[in-house]
Amino acid sequence: MMPVDRDAFRQAMGLFPGAVTLITTGRGEGRRGITATAVCSVTDTPPTLLACVNRKTGTCAEILKSGHFSVQLLGADQTEIALTFAGAKGQAGAEKFDSALWSECSLGLPRVDGALASLSCVVENTMQSGSHQVFFGRIEGIHAGAGEALIYAQSRFRRLEAVA
Ligand SMILES: Cc1cc2nc3c(=O)[nH]c(=O)nc-3n(C[C@H](O)[C@H](O)[C@H](O)COP(=O)(O)O)c2cc1C
Repeated sequence: MMPVDRDAFRQAMGLFPGAVTLITTGRGEGRRGITATAVCSVTDTPPTLLACVNRKTGTCAEILKSGHFSVQLLGADQTEIALTFAGAKGQAGAEKFDSALWSECSLGLPRVDGALASLSCVVENTMQSGSHQVFFGRIEGIHAGAGEALIYAQSRFRRLEAVA
């Protein structure tokens, strides 16, 4: 069989709509965060999710060090925050946090104001897969609101539309 081309994989995966989240970790000047769609529910027994984080990021290093991270589902009006945490606005490291208002989750991790849901996790398990680190997070705290999620598909931020 022919090996699968990286661009073909990226193009196919780009068709999969993803809910846009922030993955944040650390405290004070040690705060780090990225925009991420590679987040998935694993099991409710015990409540667990997984998140795939590029090993080159400061976020990955800080999660490996602290063993904690928070996943926040962004609202449809939070594209600016999504761009900032994707590194598209030129801010890096703890600077990214200057662009929004924050409170602390039950584990003391940064939680962005206006997120639809925030899940505070303790790393239960982790493994390396290629360029990324997969973190299995046992959920220790949940903060849920209401509203419309921000979606990313086919290289664009989008809103959901009901069809039935
Ligand atoms: C819509 C979107 C989804 C992303 N999903 C992920 C992801 O799931 N995991 C990941 O490691 N990076 C993901 N990224 C890329 C990171 O956000 C980006 O590499 C990171 O913010 C770079 O941070 P730095 O500039 O501080 O190194 C995504 C970017 C965008 C725009």
